[in-house]
Amino acid sequence: MELRINGQPVKLELTAGATLLSVIRDQLRLRGTKESCGRGECGACTVLVDGHPVMSCIKLAAVTAGDVTTIEGLAEESRDLREAFAEFGGFQCGFCTAGQVVHATALLRELAMRPVDDLEKFIRKRLSGNICRCTGYNGFVDAVLQTYRRRLARQAKRMEVSRL
Ligand code: FES
Ligand code: FES
Repeated sequence: MELRINGQPVKLELTAGATLLSVIRDQLRLRGTKESCGRGECGACTVLVDGHPVMSCIKLAAVTAGDVTTIEGLAEESRDLREAFAEFGGFQCGFCTAGQVVHATALLRELAMRPVDDLEKFIRKRLSGNICRCTGYNGFVDAVLQTYRRRLARQAKRMEVSRL
């Protein structure tokens, strides 16, 4: 079959039952996406399919329809978010971090289109499927909050400059 991964078409030969995660890590050697529970419970393996977060360990590659984006494909877009994870102590061992960043990237895109009233509650609820064994969660919630606020501030500044 053919899939688009990080904007590139790739031809794949699949074994029966191959998961999207096994294709990404073992065939394409994109090792940023992690496997932890391997059964759809922790979110470590999250990738985007047509912009929506998907747990790739329980997604059959053969039925994956749409553009797949892994953490490697989000390197530029997530730069400020990843810096904020470091700044606010959003990780320790880092095993869950790629999944958190991928999921939070989709969430920040959504917030840019449709702001919400209780931002912190929204972030905590939406990221609740991404399990971390090390941190107390506050670090990466703060990182996502601050990234959102900083992006808004940069956008406001750009609009102000363009009006001059
Ligand atoms: S490794 Fe996929 S959900 Fe845990
Ligand atoms: S930082 Fe270790 S599992 Fe999240």
